[in-house]
Amino acid sequence: MRVKVLGAGIIGLSVADELLRRGHRVTVVDPAPGAGASYAAAGMLSPSAELWHHEEALLGLGRRSLALWGSYADRLGVPVRTDGTLLVGYDAGDRQQVARQVALVEKHGGRVERCADGSAVLPDEASTDPRAVVTALLGRVPVVPVDSAGDHDATVLATGATLPSPYASLVRGVRGEILRLRSDDPPARTLRGWVHGDAVYVVPRHRGEVVVGATSEEHDAPPVVTAGGVRRLLTAARALWPALDRAELVEATARDRPCTPDNLPLVGPAVEAADGVVLAAGHYRHGVLLAPLTAYLVADHLETGVVDPVLDPRRFTGGDR
Ligand code: GLY
Repeated sequence: MRVKVLGAGIIGLSVADELLRRGHRVTVVDPAPGAGASYAAAGMLSPSAELWHHEEALLGLGRRSLALWGSYADRLGVPVRTDGTLLVGYDAGDRQQVARQVALVEKHGGRVERCADGSAVLPDEASTDPRAVVTALLGRVPVVPVDSAGDHDATVLATGATLPSPYASLVRGVRGEILRLRSDDPPARTLRGWVHGDAVYVVPRHRGEVVVGATSEEHDAPPVVTAGGVRRLLTAARALWPALDRAELVEATARDRPCTPDNLPLVGPAVEAADGVVLAAGHYRHGVLLAPLTAYLVADHLETGVVDPVLDPRRFTGGDR
């Protein structure tokens, strides 16, 4: 098939890479490859720590995609850290939040190692560096800045929080602010914590980089870094990991997460399978985790017509199912 992919974030590039691997002809279009939400993302591969009530479908998808990440990362030549996630609470109320998360994860069969101080390790979780992933993908997948006319059999829309008309209303931006620091004393694994009720995560990377995130705000305005957002993140992160006080603050970034009405991605035909317009969008907080699974699902759909009903965009567009 000849497939056009609009959007060179981690989703569009992963889809394009999978299609190329399967022998299809692919054109990826993006004037600023890798500059959207993928640029901000912390890269946590953590379906259980991100689990929330009534989001069991997302947990299942996350687990399926996490299982793909090892071979996916090997193929791209990027490292994945597999040291798990430490859930930690600062005050008594925050520790109750940890206990609630642990109970939820265990209810859904996730492995948890409880610690004496009320914290808990999710040993099966991992993390990666999304910028390294995007760089590796850009080395494999050519991207052009402008959409030129040309014959194609299908178009995959993977433009994150700004889908083109007439699909724009299917996603809305949820602003996330995120920090990058450099520390000589980083945590040994990802911390997911609550500090006086504020949720925060601290993700260590190689060479002392530490990512601290993230705010979450419904907003119509373009995403910008705010003084209040940076203050909240730093206050919460250093309460959990005091050594961050000495860390160099390297970068503060804001991007919109692409959120759908039910928090589940849109993967499949936009309206009618025969139209050849396929969505790979709306991954909200889970784009990095779900990238390899989304790539398989889109490629499988284009080759066989199969669609996962949970992700089918026609649940919102009213198209033929
Ligand atoms: N997945 C983390 C975030 O969206 O902040």
